Amino acid sequence: MLAIIGGTGVYQLPGADAEERELETPYGKLGVTVRHLPSGMDLIFAARHGTGHAVPPHRLPSRALIWGLREMGVTSILSTSAVGALTSDIPPGTLALLGDFMDFTKSRPTTFYDGPGVTHADVTEPYCPTLRVALRTAAGRLGIPLYDRDVVYVCTEGPRFETPSEIRAYRMLGGDVVGMTQVPEAVLARELGIHYAGVALVTNLAAGIDGSRPSHGEVLDLMARNGKIVSRLLLQAAEDIGENALCERCPKPEGMS
Ligand code: HPA
Repeated sequence: MLAIIGGTGVYQLPGADAEERELETPYGKLGVTVRHLPSGMDLIFAARHGTGHAVPPHRLPSRALIWGLREMGVTSILSTSAVGALTSDIPPGTLALLGDFMDFTKSRPTTFYDGPGVTHADVTEPYCPTLRVALRTAAGRLGIPLYDRDVVYVCTEGPRFETPSEIRAYRMLGGDVVGMTQVPEAVLARELGIHYAGVALVTNLAAGIDGSRPSHGEVLDLMARNGKIVSRLLLQAAEDIGENALCERCPKPEGMS
């Protein structure tokens, strides 16, 4: 089963044939919709911040989300995120695949592996290469331009935006874009052996780049204009991938066959 997690500005998928479901997890409740695609495939959609964008990034119930999706039989996730660019070479409106992340979060529950026992997830390649190829192929077929290389996502704690000095530092460290939601979501998926890929939509230049002063309004505005393109891309990729991605590269959690 494949799931799409919609970030800022992507609160539902187009098409009417959907059914609401709610489930309990050890980490709280999760609400999703199940879409029945014309091809016969079922697809799960979850709005990361809730449908009314009510939950701020540092309070996202990421463990309930990923645990719940796994309980529903999800083996692959395609996600969207709004991001600021750390360089004006990646202008607002650019769509980019995520290739790696850096974690600057501070206060979130970040793992399912809370002991007893010690398990370390391998995130040498955090984003599934097979799903990334599917996304690039779907974008090519739909004529949707993607940034030419996969980008490094810097995850900050939020909910404040960054200072210009922080942005300069993240750039020097090798980051390309900045957002507040990839960690722990991508890590939790890896811990449960779920293949995960992310598409980022650049909504703004990060603080201080070309004098930029990011605002939530600006982020929502750009997403309102471009969110549909992201949904189209994810839906196409989902149809291409089918119910189960064939990937041999992502590491499986210890003890999982
Ligand atoms: N910083 C952090 N998160 C973001 C930004 C930003 O500039 N834009 C969209 N999400």
